[in-house]
Amino acid sequence: MSMHPTPLAHRTPALLSRRLPDRLDTIRAGGETATWRRPMRNAHAEMSFDADPRRVETARRVTAAVLGRAGIRDRDVVATVQLLVSEIVTNAIVHGNANSVSFRVACDTAGEVLIEVDDHSSGAPEVREAGPDDEGGRGMQLVTFLARDWGRKGTCTWCTFAVGSG
Ligand SMILES: Nc1ncnc2c1ncn2[C@@H]1O[C@H](COP(=O)(O)OP(=O)(O)OP(=O)(O)O)[C@@H](O)[C@H]1O
Ligand SMILES: [Mg+2]
Repeated sequence: MSMHPTPLAHRTPALLSRRLPDRLDTIRAGGETATWRRPMRNAHAEMSFDADPRRVETARRVTAAVLGRAGIRDRDVVATVQLLVSEIVTNAIVHGNANSVSFRVACDTAGEVLIEVDDHSSGAPEVREAGPDDEGGRGMQLVTFLARDWGRKGTCTWCTFAVGSG
């Protein structure tokens, strides 16, 4: 009789991999599976760009690169943070009235992501209640729903996102 119980990963691999937090990985060796915790790393990037809608995609790519450097591989997490970036950068470009936008995305070792978008303009985001026929007014609703917190400091809109604590 084996002294060792069947590893959970052998019994329910699909379920386990779905439930594994972002910072846990598996190693398979000799037919056995071990889990290990990947350390989160600090990573950040900052850039300024023209207030041109094509730069939204640039900011999304930079975000994916920063999260990758931080060790975040969960596609849902990356997609969610990119969505936050898209909404806030688009707002800065569309609703701001300066020529340039400054963008910064940072992830710390605790898995806290901070997005900062400075539109160098005096306006501020409002959370609207979009009706069925309204073409806009949903971006900030998404931000309030998905972000842990958000706000406006001076001319900068910021939001935070907490990656699963793994
Ligand atoms: N950076 C900003 N500067 C000034 N006003 C802003 C800014 N961001 C948002 N707003 C204001 O807040 C409102 C709500 O923003 P929200 O992103 O929810 O909607 P939207 O940008 O109008 O449409 P969409 O659903 O396409 O994002 C905007 O219509 C705008 O009036
Ligand atoms: Mg918007």
